[in-house]
Amino acid sequence: METIFSGIQPSGTLTLGNYLGALKQFVELQDDYECYFCIVDEHAITVPQERLKLRQNIRSLAALYLASGINPDKATLFIQSEVPAHTQLGWMLQSIGYVGELERMTQYKDKSQGKEAVSTALLTYPALMAADILLYQSNLVPVGDDQKQHMELTRDLAGRFNNRFNDIFTIPEIRIPKVGARIMSLQDPTKKMSKSDENEKSFISMLDDLKKIEKKIKSAVTDSEGIVKYDKENKPGVSNLLTIYSSCTGKSIESLEAKYEGKGYGDFKQGVADAVISVLKPIQDRYQELIDSDILDEILDNGAAKANMTANKTVAKAKKAMGLGRVRK
Ligand code: TYM
Repeated sequence: METIFSGIQPSGTLTLGNYLGALKQFVELQDDYECYFCIVDEHAITVPQERLKLRQNIRSLAALYLASGINPDKATLFIQSEVPAHTQLGWMLQSIGYVGELERMTQYKDKSQGKEAVSTALLTYPALMAADILLYQSNLVPVGDDQKQHMELTRDLAGRFNNRFNDIFTIPEIRIPKVGARIMSLQDPTKKMSKSDENEKSFISMLDDLKKIEKKIKSAVTDSEGIVKYDKENKPGVSNLLTIYSSCTGKSIESLEAKYEGKGYGDFKQGVADAVISVLKPIQDRYQELIDSDILDEILDNGAAKANMTANKTVAKAKKAMGLGRVRK
């Protein structure tokens, strides 16, 4: 069976973008692959975090993974900082990564722009991400469109390590969903929907009150044409809503265009809101049951134990390949 790894940062409540771009694929893939899904808390601290808030976000993300349909009997769910091999291999990979290639990462450029104090870890972040993936000899990494560049770098680092030392890493492939790989902001549909956006109306949080979700969709920016048609260049707002609608219902964009032919944006937006709510409502209900349960701790303990076992084997191989440590006499 082939292996999958993917991770999500616990840096705020997940958005509909995280769900449609990432989580939804995870649930679909868990039957056919050996899956490792990670709460990447060490990535979250590359920008300042409040201690107690971070703790809360980690637990909340674990509950959201499960509420979305991740089955702990099939997939391994764990917290990155509970598996020390991630930072160990991350360091080794930093030693073969170049500052120049890290500085070229658009996420680094975006997040560091205009800031005086930029952490070193924000720059070296992709080496840790590569370690996450390579530790499990992953064949496939399901992510949204914004992680493409990091995935390319992961493949480069893996290839470089294999050539320079020993052929120990599987070179992973990226998997991006056909619809929903890049959900855009509801207020500025030329920008990605992001949980760190200052304008709360621009994103739908997976735990938003249902009334609020409806309101946010109804106030989404569209255009004055009044025609429901997919045209990313000229109608980015409507196209984004069509993408969300299609991804939430499984209906094709063409069939949705046909359904709303001759109808205005009011009807269309109601349809989008209903579709989003029908996906998020059951997730929210399950989330409430899980968030304070002991089951969550048990699942995360088991996940960490399994992940440590696999990851430690790879770290031992990587250390040997690089000449770290010693061989007993
Ligand atoms: P993060 O936490 O920013 O996002 C988690 C996942 O959600 C996807 N995503 C989106 N998809 C569609 N539309 C959007 N607007 C949108 N916003 C976010 C992301 O592409 C991602 O798949 N570096 C990663 C976390 C990470 C990781 C890994 C991922 C760390 N190690 C190893 C895969 C494998 C990140 O910051 O994702």
